Amino acid sequence: MDKLLITGGVRLNGVVRASGAKNAALPILAATLLTKELITIKNLPHLHDITTMLELLGSMGCGVVVDEKMSVQLDVSTLNNSEAPYELVKTMRASILVLGPLVSHFGKAIVSLPGGCAIGSRPVDLHLRGLEAMGANIVVEGGDIIASVDGRLKGARIFFDKVTVTGTENLLMAATLADGQTILENAAREPEVVDLAECLIAMGAKITGHGTDTIVIDGVEALHGATYPVMPDRIETGTFLVAAAITGGKVKVTDTDVKSLEAVLSKLEETGAKVTCGEDWIEVDMEGRRPKAVNISTAPYPAFPTDMQAQFVALNSVAEGVGRVIENIFENRFMHVDEMLRMGADIEVTGNTAIVRGCNSLKGAPVMATDLRASASLVLSALVANGDTKIDRIYHIDRGYECIEEKFGSLGAKISRVLN
Ligand code: EPZ
Repeated sequence: MDKLLITGGVRLNGVVRASGAKNAALPILAATLLTKELITIKNLPHLHDITTMLELLGSMGCGVVVDEKMSVQLDVSTLNNSEAPYELVKTMRASILVLGPLVSHFGKAIVSLPGGCAIGSRPVDLHLRGLEAMGANIVVEGGDIIASVDGRLKGARIFFDKVTVTGTENLLMAATLADGQTILENAAREPEVVDLAECLIAMGAKITGHGTDTIVIDGVEALHGATYPVMPDRIETGTFLVAAAITGGKVKVTDTDVKSLEAVLSKLEETGAKVTCGEDWIEVDMEGRRPKAVNISTAPYPAFPTDMQAQFVALNSVAEGVGRVIENIFENRFMHVDEMLRMGADIEVTGNTAIVRGCNSLKGAPVMATDLRASASLVLSALVANGDTKIDRIYHIDRGYECIEEKFGSLGAKISRVLN
């Protein structure tokens, strides 16, 4: 199992390009199931989850042609089954995103019920309830979701009890081919939902209100092909900007989306970082200073994103002062804390709140990645720790960060991948 070996103490400095957003690419690849015409998706990140989604589409009989720049052309006209098997779904719960498109376009789908994951139970009840409201017949048996509809789904007014990103995305996709109008209320406003909606509009869907909490979709008979580039990854961008703040360095992230990180940039300024933005770049310059601790409370967009919580726990662990971090989205998203305690961090978790007392320094140690964003926070801690840190189970990192050692290495980090 690969490991990352990092020697801390280097002030990062340089420029790095943001990759395409994993959490926009996954629903957009699922959306290709809504048309039988050729469709090209560009700027895909080279990540394990993307490969898994392409494998899933291929396993259904879709033609998948990937070029060296990670643009992919999909041909869904050859689809010969609408099943997402357990073997694939268990490795990537975002496979649930094929459910809405398959039912809406082909009238049936069998998708293995995604289990929980390290960060929480991750139910999909809101996805299923929404599809039922649109007329789908849903049976859950033997670990599978078996969904079907005679004819077309019907437009419906759906109120989400909780803001759900993939729940909004699943029903947004299903509604594009439904008969009549669908209104999604208390919908997710994440930029990745907006990117999906823009891709669907490029395919001929009639959607308004995306980016607000009420999305209106007027169903059409069919969607056509398109060429669509995925938006830049705001969480990868934020992770590199925190790397600058935690090491006292200066990092510029290019080809990124400046508007989608307001909550994160404002918190970075609170740590004392100098933040400057251009048309498609963001720079953080810490000017050699130690960051000041900040309080974080995660919530749906546009509030502070849960996917940046672990990174700020790492920053607070070496900051001046005490930071309070409250995780409101997932029930078990502090697993990075136990690993950081091994590096000498002073963190106390009670329920969904972590109190982080900044230390003057951390000490390198062997640690283990537990989930995608937690593992990124271990990289950040290792970059600023004294001595060497070896991070195990880094397949978690490879799911969400493209070429992480090359990118951090280009900023001066002493980081290498140990194959074994
Ligand atoms: C998406 O997960 C992202 N994944 C997650 O990123 C992200 O952390 C999360 O949104 C929150 O922003 C993708 O987009 C592929 P939710 P998702 O449905 O859609 C509850 C990463 O690191 N809920 O918005 O699965 C749920 O338990 C990943 O890239 C229900 O109760 O999250 C949670 O408490 C991790 N019933 C809350 O809603 C449902 O049917 C928000 O979950 C659905 C969700």
